[in-house]
This record gives sequence, structure tokens and C-alpha cells, in this order.
Amino acid sequence: MIKLGDNMLVNFNEMLKKAKENHYAVPHLNINNLEWTKYILEECQELDVPVILGVSEGAAKYMGGFEAITGMVRGLIKDLNISIPVCLHVDHGQSFETCKKAIDAGFTSVMIDASKLELDENVRITKEVVDYAHERGVSVEAEVGHIGGTEDNITSSATNATVEECLTIYKETGIDALAPALGSVHGFYKGEPNLDFERMEIINKELSIPLVLHGGSGIPDDKIKKAIACGISKINVNTELQYAWSEAVRKFLQEDNKSYDPRKVIGSGEQALKDKVREKVVLFATKK
Ligand code: 13P
Repeated sequence: MIKLGDNMLVNFNEMLKKAKENHYAVPHLNINNLEWTKYILEECQELDVPVILGVSEGAAKYMGGFEAITGMVRGLIKDLNISIPVCLHVDHGQSFETCKKAIDAGFTSVMIDASKLELDENVRITKEVVDYAHERGVSVEAEVGHIGGTEDNITSSATNATVEECLTIYKETGIDALAPALGSVHGFYKGEPNLDFERMEIINKELSIPLVLHGGSGIPDDKIKKAIACGISKINVNTELQYAWSEAVRKFLQEDNKSYDPRKVIGSGEQALKDKVREKVVLFATKK
């Protein structure tokens, strides 16, 4: 746990260590605005579970920038008396500069995603981020292979990670968690997700750090449970939250064509979002 003056935000090391030891997964839930952040924090506080708030580069830009987000999250934690462990994490940081900017603004965790590059280049950039982050108590997640699908309106194709690639990046960089691409994709699945559980299990045995499952939306519950049994300790969910919230707001606006107060319109998705958060937390069986 890092100490940032008032101890409000933590890196993910302690929460993922406990999850790995006790065979559950911590939810990484992507945030898009103040309301989402508030709903997620309130629901996780109610459930008394730790949470990782994921911020993609696109979402960071949308919300104004890393400083604005850190201020918002810290303010909400204080105003809402949030006492659960909260980790503020960059999702798919594309460069050292992005990760540095977030760390300097007070993020307690970053993902450096240089998975589009050759492995040696991925290792070099990841190591640079690890060196900067660890000096400041910030945790680092990396990706090998390439997780396909659509995120932030960017679509890319998938390549599964090999055990050798995982071992290389782990040994040469000192990362805290690894997201090996093993068949999950961002966004909705076309057909049944095809996860390579066998390789997941081998990677988990070879590496002593927690593994991360991206593309957590749309994976059937039994496969989520199996992934946790194979060593997954952090599961990223974005699309299902977006869908649940949007459906509720769409329904509200179809039934009510008079409301114009943004608090009413945006707030009409609150319960649906909270219900989805609860569903995922219970599924991942997160314990404190
Ligand atoms: P989904 O949008 O498929 O839930 O994936 C989220 C994710 O992996 C964020 O990194």
C-alpha cells in the first residue's frame, strides 16, 4: 500500500495479493464521468470490497485529464466517507509519457500497453515505466500477446500470448501484474469466448504475480469462475457497465419526453449501473 499523504488511494499490490491467495478476483471497473465514479464507489462501499477504477486514455481526455480525475476521485472518497481500498489505475496506457503524466497527477497504478510492438520493445518501454512507477510506490500492469476487439472506438485483432513471452516480460521488467492475451476481447463477443485456460494455468504456475483478464464483459459466469481458478486475480469490465447504464437511460427518455435536468437524465441509469457492479462483484466473489 502506498502512502499518499492522506492514504486515500492505494496501488493494487495488496488487494491482488489477497485475491490470488484466496482465489477470487478484484473488479477493475472503467469510469467515464463523475456520476459513474460516484455510483461505483458507493456500491463497492456498500458491498465492502476493494475496487480498481480504470481510466483509459480516451476517458482521461474526455474527463479533462489526469489531474481532474485524481481531484474528482479523492474528493468523492472524502465527501462520501469511502473507506474501502480504492486504486486509481490507467487502463492501456500507450506510452511512458502517458503513464508518467498519470503518476505525477496522483494515479496509484498504471497499465503500460506496448503489446502492439515487438517483444523487446514492449519489454524496454515497460521497464522504463516500472522504474519510474516503483520509485513512487505505483503498481504496474503490462500486456503480452494482443487483446483484440473494440475499445475507445479502436478496433484491433487478437494474438494469444506465449508462455515464453510472459516469462520474458516478467523476469526482465519486475511488473506487478500481467495481462496475457488468451482469447478474451474488448467489447461484445461474436459467439462464445474461446479462452485458453490450459495456457492460463501454465502461465500462472510459472509466474508468481497476479494475472489480469481483460474483456470481462460477455464472458459466461462459468468461464469467469474457471479463469479465477486458473489464476486470474483482476477482471476488467467496461462494456457491460456502459450497456446497462445506456439501456436504462434510453428507456427513461422513451417514457419521459419532458425531463431536461441532466441530474435526472444521467441519474436514471444509476440503479442499472449499480446492479451491474453488484452482479460482477458477487460473481468475482471479491473478499476484502
Ligand atoms: P470490456 O469492455 O470487454 O468489458 O473490457 C474492458 C477492459 O478490458 C478494459 O481494459
